[in-house]
Amino acid sequence: MAENIKNMTPKQIVAELDKYIIGQDEAKKRVAIALRNRYRRIKLSETMKEEITPKNILMMGPTGVGKTEIARRLSKLMDAPFVKVEATKFTEVGYVGRDVDSMIRDLVEASMRLSKQKRIDENADTAEKIAEDIIIKAIIPGDSSEKKKGGVQLGNIFGDPGYKTQKEEYEESKKKEYESSEQFSDIQMAREQVRKQLREGQLEETVIEVEVDDVPKTNQLDAQNEGMIAIGNIFENMMPKKTKRKKCKVKDARKILIEQEAQKLVDMDQVTDEALENAEQNGIVFIDEIDKITSGNTMRSGADVSREGVQRDILPIVEGSVVNTKYGPVKTDYMLFIGAGAFHVSKPSDLIPELQGRFPISVELKNLDKEDFKKILTVPQNAVIKQQKALLETEGITIDFTEDAIDEIANLAYIMNEQTENIGARRLHTILEILLEDISYSLPDSEVNDIIIDRAEVQKKLQKKIKEVDVDKYIL
Ligand SMILES: Nc1ncnc2c1ncn2[C@@H]1O[C@H](COP(=O)(O)OP(=O)(O)OP(=O)(O)O)[C@@H](O)[C@H]1O
Ligand SMILES: [Mg+2]
Repeated sequence: MAENIKNMTPKQIVAELDKYIIGQDEAKKRVAIALRNRYRRIKLSETMKEEITPKNILMMGPTGVGKTEIARRLSKLMDAPFVKVEATKFTEVGYVGRDVDSMIRDLVEASMRLSKQKRIDENADTAEKIAEDIIIKAIIPGDSSEKKKGGVQLGNIFGDPGYKTQKEEYEESKKKEYESSEQFSDIQMAREQVRKQLREGQLEETVIEVEVDDVPKTNQLDAQNEGMIAIGNIFENMMPKKTKRKKCKVKDARKILIEQEAQKLVDMDQVTDEALENAEQNGIVFIDEIDKITSGNTMRSGADVSREGVQRDILPIVEGSVVNTKYGPVKTDYMLFIGAGAFHVSKPSDLIPELQGRFPISVELKNLDKEDFKKILTVPQNAVIKQQKALLETEGITIDFTEDAIDEIANLAYIMNEQTENIGARRLHTILEILLEDISYSLPDSEVNDIIIDRAEVQKKLQKKIKEVDVDKYIL
């Protein structure tokens, strides 16, 4: 289903990633090519398509340089099904029978959400019309026989196996309703009047009573955990939907009803078919911390054996196999896997050879330097400085950093990474925390107005706080 992938060119994908991730051009490029190749593959004939499996990618690089951030951004960017898992999750103590299949089940869940949302969006117009009708009937109830039907009667959506468009069905049922009724009765005239007023926005504050689905709130979340099937979910599908009457303003009722009616219009069989196909053909699985499941060069301990076990469990999935999900079986052959890890203790060659072989493309992410830090502080849409500014603005305070303050922060971050532990861009967060701690603590304060932070301020604050690093030596 090619239309499900945003058909961005590799350059466009990189440009999009550039908004958030500084440097790491090679990694971005590789990922972009891999994504585009999937899109290209979809366009091939069935026989050719079957022969082409994605070239999985292994991203290596020190901690805090953007590996996970790339994954996070991709997941927002793509409308392809995407999951990110930490490989270490499967080695956790107490994790009975390492359930690596769960990552594929999560992928299918993600795919289901995408497909369902797509259908809901498609039905939004229809749902809006239905909601309007329900609201009108709530205001002008009509006779009792009609009341019993509870709003608009739709065709038998769920019984119809053919994928007839839901819009057609709605139009049909609408027509029938019209024909069967006595010409324009008084009630209908009144209703048309109300419809007009509604559309003009005159009745937004009117309180009405409507029937809404009574969805139990608890078991939906449970079902997402570890791909288990919550018992509540099974029964939910078997039992008739409970409804309750709810009093609310027209404007709120409309929101609830549109949401609810759009859900009802969705043909779940169709969504499921689509979601499984989309997961198989376009799914992306990001396996983070993959370096943490190598057994390393040290003597084998129990933990090492279990790590290797996880690799062996992951192997068939990456290699291509069938995983059962509650929506049906899915093939993993054409999914794209991206592995990422710092690999500072272990090396990719410490992975079992079979698994290494399934990640033919490897890219190295670079250590970040002072110039990168300066950009990370200011350029990305979610840059730390922008975030801090926005936070303090909620207290009515404008905070500004001079250019040399930014320069100093980047400089100190770099030095501290060299001197103590190299934690990459995470160092910037630490420094900003220290820098703004006092200000943050004292606000709100009517005495304080706008704040400007300059180089001297940065030096003062950080010298005071960081004793273990001999910062003086480096400040020129
Ligand atoms: N190249 C970069 N551009 C912009 N921000 C970055 C970059 N690298 C790291 N960051 C920021 O630093 C933080 C940590 O980055 P990230 O989570 O990507 O590290 P990582 O490479 O996955 O490290 P680890 O190996 O420890 O998991 C994030 O908040 C991220 O926004
Ligand atoms: Mg990470």
